[in-house]
Amino acid sequence: MKTLGKATQAIHAGEDPLARPNEKSGTPLMPPIYQNSTFRFTTAAECAEACTNEESGYVYTRWGNPTQQLLEQKLAVLESGEAALATASGMGAVSTALLTALAEGGHVIAMETLYSATHHLLNEDLVSLGIETTFVDATDVNQIERALRPDTKVIYLESPTNPLLKLVDLGACAEIAKAHGAITIIDNTFATPCGQQPIALGIDVVLHSMTKYLSGNGAVIAGAIVGNKQFIARAKTGALRNFGAVISPFNAWLTLHGIATLPLRWTQHCKNALRIAAFLETHPAVAWARYPGLRSHPQHELAKRQMNGFGGMITLELKGGLSAGERLVNRLKLCALAVSLGDVRTLICHPASTTHSLVPTEIRRQTGITDGIVRISVGLEDAEDIIDDLGQAFS
Ligand SMILES: Cc1ncc(COP(=O)(O)O)c(C=O)c1O
Repeated sequence: MKTLGKATQAIHAGEDPLARPNEKSGTPLMPPIYQNSTFRFTTAAECAEACTNEESGYVYTRWGNPTQQLLEQKLAVLESGEAALATASGMGAVSTALLTALAEGGHVIAMETLYSATHHLLNEDLVSLGIETTFVDATDVNQIERALRPDTKVIYLESPTNPLLKLVDLGACAEIAKAHGAITIIDNTFATPCGQQPIALGIDVVLHSMTKYLSGNGAVIAGAIVGNKQFIARAKTGALRNFGAVISPFNAWLTLHGIATLPLRWTQHCKNALRIAAFLETHPAVAWARYPGLRSHPQHELAKRQMNGFGGMITLELKGGLSAGERLVNRLKLCALAVSLGDVRTLICHPASTTHSLVPTEIRRQTGITDGIVRISVGLEDAEDIIDDLGQAFS
């Protein structure tokens, strides 16, 4: 059967159009929410069977719930994976995936510029569990190859990276990892399943902070892991269940609402961002603006090859450095000064003092996250209005 398009998948995948409350009723058009923590059984034998056999149904929401499961089925289809898990947050997804892949220990090679909590997890929290990470500039895949050790178990990537919007050649990384028997994990939050299909490029595990584009409305904190059936089953019955980063049914249900409009929103985020990036690139107050859709982006050709649309994130440095950045964000009226991204509203923040404050200053400097850079998550307002707001703030 022909694969359905992303817009159709986002609305229909995982949903059962025939599921009815009883024989005579119609089907609820929007899947109902199972907002319950536990499930009742009629006999001790049934309950015991359900507790010991993973296949026999729902017992307790930390182990699984129909609303979570529907979301997970949709996520697996959208990311072209075999199975998926929804988690309580993006960091819940990152930590659950790493704890699953590294259950027996091992070495990690990671991109040097990562979301700061992920950097902290690898650079500090997992070190106390005996897990060592080598950070490399994975835009040069040779650096990954050189960092390989016999005990390397995981290659951990982001592309585009937060906040410098560097890209990694995912196909090339996957080949290196496969030849070595390591697992590749990518945080695909910035690209979404509409903008990038890492599993089709050979990556093993895809993560999301669904707090961002997937839910899209700034209403939930949520995360996702997509991979093959074995990996997802191990994560579900191991790290997810026992460390407990489980999504609530309500947040799963809100995220389902958000995902239905993701493909439409993605197209508009990309359109708006391209216009705003072009405006910023030539503005006299701006030292440089980076956006994968601009020809001036050093990896524009890779972005064209690997991505479908260039996303809604723009990073820039002002000629006046940190103080100019502070003046800019203080003067904005429409764009909101806020961390997070992927929202319908345009959000602007200063990574060095906010999202990346957990990364040690020395490493921030080495990796180019200077004090003067500003990150914009372009929203879905009219592009002209966003440009006017930025223009009045610059002036
Ligand atoms: C790329 C990326 N991954 C993961 C996270 C963590 O997500 P959450 O805040 O949902 O835990 C973030 C948060 O900003 C992020 O930007």
